[in-house]
Amino acid sequence: MVANQSSLTALVTGATGFVGSHLISRLVSIGWQVHIIIRPNSKLQLLESVRDRITIHTHDGTTEDLFRIMESAKPTVVFHLASIFLAQHTPEDIAPMLQSNITFATQLVEAMVAQKIYYLINTGTSWQHYENKEYSPVCLYAATKQAFEAIIQFYIETTPLQVITLKLFDTYGQNDPRQKLFALLEKTANQKELLAMSPGEQLIELVYIDDVIDAYILALERLLSGKVQGHEKYQVSTGSPIKLKEIVEVYEQETGTNLPIQWGGRPYRPREVMVPWNQGKLLPGWKTKISIREGIRKVKGSVKPAS
Ligand SMILES: NC(=O)c1ccc[n+]([C@@H]2O[C@H](COP(=O)([O-])OP(=O)(O)OC[C@H]3O[C@@H](n4cnc5c(N)ncnc54)[C@H](OP(=O)(O)O)[C@@H]3O)[C@@H](O)[C@H]2O)c1
Repeated sequence: MVANQSSLTALVTGATGFVGSHLISRLVSIGWQVHIIIRPNSKLQLLESVRDRITIHTHDGTTEDLFRIMESAKPTVVFHLASIFLAQHTPEDIAPMLQSNITFATQLVEAMVAQKIYYLINTGTSWQHYENKEYSPVCLYAATKQAFEAIIQFYIETTPLQVITLKLFDTYGQNDPRQKLFALLEKTANQKELLAMSPGEQLIELVYIDDVIDAYILALERLLSGKVQGHEKYQVSTGSPIKLKEIVEVYEQETGTNLPIQWGGRPYRPREVMVPWNQGKLLPGWKTKISIREGIRKVKGSVKPAS
């Protein structure tokens, strides 16, 4: 592990989100100087415990402002996690999603290379690989992730930029504000109202947040060691996907509940991922440490029930 590298600086986007806030805590704990880029309306609740130990830059949306931020932070490495995630979009979502997932991301890399900053850790999604294909986006969000990878290729070919893209699957853990599976189950347990779910036969890759953050730190070490040539891409997965129904069973066992779930009470989503992508490579030296049962033990009672 990288220990106490206090002269090294990381610049992080998406820091106010679930994964980003956990990454910031880890980077601060191992002695990195951390700068983050936020939007004027970003909420900082998830960063409360580290707020006085990080430098916050508010981006006005322009390329020039990102140049200013990059020049001021002068990071050793940039972690890019900012994104708008939407499983399904409406026409109104297109402009903000492309702004966040493509324009902002490209401005970021342009500003990096202008300042001769050549280490980037980018974040992709397993949803770029529907039905295990080399490229098949589950939804428009996944297509924007792929589009940014295509843009990175330009910078790889024209500058010394070195990139690792970590492709995430489902993540879970403490301090998760997102209204995801465990928040929904917690609410169902509290309110004892019938919960209509899909038939539940889809296999899911759920990776505990500490394991996900280990992957970012290992990617950082790999970049710093000079082993990366061009653009390396890795999947951050357990390798042992579990059916949704079975995850709920483990949750019930660990919380001593019997949830009123109506399996099949709602249809699968369009392009539901029934079998997660498994054709990618794992980051050398990384594997998950926390089983789903251990992870549920850690999160139970700590997630905010879905509203
Ligand atoms: N968590 C998962 O299960 C999962 C799975 C696959 C891939 N991923 C990827 O992993 C990354 C982190 O996911 P997450 O779940 O932590 O996301 P999240 O909780 O939804 O947070 C998204 C972050 O992106 C920031 N952001 C969005 N648009 C921005 C913009 N234009 N400028 C600056 N910041 C912007 C948000 O800032 P505000 O505070 O201003 O909203 C927030 O900090 C994302 O790239 C996501 O696509 C996550």
